Amino acid sequence: MEHLRHKVAVITGAASGIGRGMAETFAEAGMRVVLSDVEEPALHATTATLRDSGADVHAVAADVSQAGDVTALAEAALGAYGAVHVLCNNAGVHTGSRPSWDSTLDDWAWILGVNLMGVVHGIRTFLPIMIEQDEDAHIVNTASLAGLMTGGSLYGVTKAGVLTLSETVQLELVDGGLKPRVSVLCPGLVDTNIADSHRNRPARFPDAGPFPADWDFDAARKAFELGASPRTIGGHVLQAIREQRFYVLTHHDFDDHIRHRTTQFLNGDNPTRLPFTGG
Ligand SMILES: NC(=O)c1ccc[n+]([C@@H]2O[C@H](COP(=O)([O-])OP(=O)(O)OC[C@H]3O[C@@H](n4cnc5c(N)ncnc54)[C@H](O)[C@@H]3O)[C@@H](O)[C@H]2O)c1
Repeated sequence: MEHLRHKVAVITGAASGIGRGMAETFAEAGMRVVLSDVEEPALHATTATLRDSGADVHAVAADVSQAGDVTALAEAALGAYGAVHVLCNNAGVHTGSRPSWDSTLDDWAWILGVNLMGVVHGIRTFLPIMIEQDEDAHIVNTASLAGLMTGGSLYGVTKAGVLTLSETVQLELVDGGLKPRVSVLCPGLVDTNIADSHRNRPARFPDAGPFPADWDFDAARKAFELGASPRTIGGHVLQAIREQRFYVLTHHDFDDHIRHRTTQFLNGDNPTRLPFTGG
């Protein structure tokens, strides 16, 4: 999709972190941007900052885990701008690293609902609109290197699902001779607020209590602070949309981890982790 000026992008999880970085990058490229998020004060603050800088932006509050909210988001985007050319299914949360068997059904329901079903809702709602428009269009799904590396806890499970779903939809579109294309974004560490995801945990999924000793919030925050800037990731995404590039890996210092896993598959070895060097 070469010409992005005045095209309309919808971004979920746009109030903070990577979503905000994409919104800033897209606005700078002259796109019109619908920012969406479940955290309303942050959503309105981010949208106001972008508008003050001259961007053509619109805010819509939506919880991506709720199909009805995503339908209302699409209606609001079409109402504001008349079309949608780019959708970034980016909203995501992290539950922390409780062992799988100690994770509660509420942990599973929350993280699967946002990270995986949020993407499903985006695809089911927006792709028929894009196909009907019969113009160039692009969907970017935010997965993670956690979906490509060994382990990864509940979070890695959801991101592996986003990766497979993205590959599936891309092939279905190509096989069907349809115009929209897909990218899957797999970043490593990025300097965002994801370590504090629990700020958006709904009361209907009560937290099971303190995390185990090995989940150190301060250490997690510090690790993310050393990560890439959200604007850098926004730049990678914009380029991938322009080039219709499917796999968007932004942190090649983790390539050995991906190779290690693939080699273990092919050799029939049991899974092990490479030591994490913090790259
Ligand atoms: N930060 C990293 O190192 C990293 C690495 C790989 C992938 N990711 C992925 O990037 C995406 C963005 O996360 P981030 O790191 O920018 O974190 P972030 O917490 O800064 O931003 C996530 C945004 O999603 C919103 N959100 C949470 N639940 C939502 C819901 N139910 N509906 C709509 N919005 C919701 C939050 O309010 C927040 O604004 C996520 O999918 C995350 O899994 C992050």
